Amino acid sequence: MRRPRGVRHPRRVFALGLAAVLLLASVAATACSGGGETTTTGGDTPTTVTTGPSTGTEGAQVVISNYAYEPAEVTIKAGESVTWTNEDSVRHNAASDENAFEGPLLSKGESYTFTFDAPGTYPYHCTPHPYMKATVIVE
Ligand code: CO
Repeated sequence: MRRPRGVRHPRRVFALGLAAVLLLASVAATACSGGGETTTTGGDTPTTVTTGPSTGTEGAQVVISNYAYEPAEVTIKAGESVTWTNEDSVRHNAASDENAFEGPLLSKGESYTFTFDAPGTYPYHCTPHPYMKATVIVE
């Protein structure tokens, strides 16, 4: 509850924010799955919170337009991020097929960024439109 005063820790704040996002995504994914799955994750799922130098300028951009992700496949390196921006009037999100991440529903013009720490292939979809499918490849 206590916070140190007078000293700024931008990276710590970022890490805490990221942790909160991961926690929310995990909770949301669990809530949506409806099954008996737990939030325990395997070795191929990014669960660690990066505390190193910011890589905010690295990664890929995906535009959601006309009920599709463009491009439908992006390749990044571990530690980089993908930012999804919705350009439709309809709300969309980007949700991992394997509960690795789940972004919030984005209104037109809104964005969601997720940082991928572990190499792997991450298929994802739009929660309200499951036929919207695409993939992130992390090398
Ligand atoms: Co959608």
